[in-house]
Amino acid sequence: MSLIKAALGICETGPLDDSFWAVEDGKVRVKLDQMPAPLAKGGSTYLRGKGLSMPVFLMRSEDDQYLAFENRCSHFGHRKLDPVPGENKIRCCSVFHSTYDLDGNKLTGPAPNPLKRYTVEQSNGELVITL
Ligand code: FES
Repeated sequence: MSLIKAALGICETGPLDDSFWAVEDGKVRVKLDQMPAPLAKGGSTYLRGKGLSMPVFLMRSEDDQYLAFENRCSHFGHRKLDPVPGENKIRCCSVFHSTYDLDGNKLTGPAPNPLKRYTVEQSNGELVITL
């Protein structure tokens, strides 16, 4: 990631098209089987809008688990998140790059708290994220 992007808090992770997910009864349903290309291992996207109080960061880990977190670093800059390429880690898109493990626990950087992690279940071609 370039220093300019980091200074501006610009992540590599982009939003998921609205047509592939919905919010219902405190759960987000992601239509995995309708997405034109599944998330690659180590890949990520995020969901925003549709009444969500906070964007949701969704990633597929290198060992093929879908994970979801509040898309917000706990450091005061509250930058959004990216996966760390080739590693089962998450980092924020700031110059300070706080990093977290896949449970949301901080590994490095100035972030004072863990990430808020959501439960993700997979069934019948969809992911269900409980907020
Ligand atoms: S927002 Fe400052 S380290 Fe993440």
